[in-house]
Amino acid sequence: MKIAAIIMAAGHGTRMKSSLPKVLHSVAGRPLVYFPIAAAVAAGVEEVVVVVNPATHDQIAARLDPLFPDLNIVYAVQQTPQGTGDAVKAGMGALPSGLVQKVMILSGDAPLLRVATLLELLGDEESDRALTLMSFHAQNPFGYGRVVRSSSGQPLEIREERDLVSDEERKINEVNAGIYLATESILRDALEGISSNNAQNEYYLTDILPLIAARHPVGPALADEAEMAGVNDRQQLREVEEILFERIRRHHLKNGVSLIGSPQIDAGVRIDAGARIESGVVLRGDTAVASDAWIDVGTVVDSSEVGERAHIKPYSVLNQSVVGPDAQIGPMAHLRPGSLIDARAKVGNFVETKKAHLKEGAKVNHLSYVGDAEVGERANLGAGTIVCNYDGFLKHQTTIGPDAFIGSASQLIAPVSVGSGAYVATGTTVASDVPEDALAIARVRQSNKAGYATQLKTRLQAAAAEKKKS
Ligand code: UD1
Ligand code: MG
Repeated sequence: MKIAAIIMAAGHGTRMKSSLPKVLHSVAGRPLVYFPIAAAVAAGVEEVVVVVNPATHDQIAARLDPLFPDLNIVYAVQQTPQGTGDAVKAGMGALPSGLVQKVMILSGDAPLLRVATLLELLGDEESDRALTLMSFHAQNPFGYGRVVRSSSGQPLEIREERDLVSDEERKINEVNAGIYLATESILRDALEGISSNNAQNEYYLTDILPLIAARHPVGPALADEAEMAGVNDRQQLREVEEILFERIRRHHLKNGVSLIGSPQIDAGVRIDAGARIESGVVLRGDTAVASDAWIDVGTVVDSSEVGERAHIKPYSVLNQSVVGPDAQIGPMAHLRPGSLIDARAKVGNFVETKKAHLKEGAKVNHLSYVGDAEVGERANLGAGTIVCNYDGFLKHQTTIGPDAFIGSASQLIAPVSVGSGAYVATGTTVASDVPEDALAIARVRQSNKAGYATQLKTRLQAAAAEKKKS
């Protein structure tokens, strides 16, 4: 059986007080609307229609499409948001009739919905129900549509908060979750029958319940309130994100990842079994951490790969970089975009790299900047080595051969190359290429003046005393 999902995401989201469409606000590194779509796809949905409004259409498509490269999301534009019934009607308009047998309806602002819950909902698909609607028992039902049932327990209708007429109705705590599964042709017919004759002058999707129930079997499916939370403001956004982060941590723990404290791990991050992630760590974007890697306290890794057994020591920052197996980074290192650190290479404290390729076993251990550079196998850059890659207008490339040794406090003025096995003396400013195996030394020769220290100090002391007097 082929199933489509319609995701309602055309509301204005005014309570976010934001120019960004509500459903594009991020939780755990992904926009809100990503989550219900991902859950639907994981549950076997093949066609996805997202209902947007004309003002948000382009922005939502631009953010969502790259997140689902294998899915052809269809965007249905609801010209003016006139209610959930109108939204689903717009969605159905983008779905050729008969293409699917069942339609699942979800809200774009409810990211906690689990795949298992949708699978349960779809479990009903074999039954002859024309409509299943999810409901839950709300601790505080205020604001939700109440499920009004007959004396025999049949759901009769959904009554919105503003349309409630009696205290009896207000006390009903079984509420509509806003998640539905319906037979496609029957849903299409029912949507033609709804009107906007209610307190909000809106087309309520919930009005399909009595229309369908009059001729077909319908039924409820009870869900867990914890999964139903929707986001209307920034407080709820924060609460939902905390729940997601905790869920993500549990997922990795179950897979054999060690977590110390509460590292913050985005939804798109992959971590192999045996890795160890310490407290204060933030893993963002599509970061991947291989088995037995160790991400130490306070490190931030964004959209980077960390190889097997690599150790990222405390308080390092990695962005769009790749770290090979057994490499060691930090503490307090900064790998900027395009850094490629091969196996067993070392990047030490207060070292910054950018578009730098450190080949196997290369070392930059202290206080250096390495930008637009290739550093050969086993080469060693001494403390305070600076690659001068920028002349104020253009960036230039530096190449250091395998087994080269760059003495401390040297500068390499790009474009320049140091041949394999060459030796650059401490404090050298390398302005032209150093051939293979050569020694490059460029500094003023030292001269010692015997006894001159006392003489100099006496003179300086007298000058200081003179200055104090005046
Ligand atoms: C809706 C239900 C209510 C249920 C609640 C659960 C109706 C009439 N009411 O109420 O029974 O308890 O959800 O959270 O359906 N949207 C559009 N276009 C529109 C209007 C809304 O796309 O014209 C989208 C919104 O962006 C949102 C979703 O539909 O994602 C729900 O709309 P919202 O206004 O939040 O409905 P509720 O009043 O919460
Ligand atoms: Mg709502």
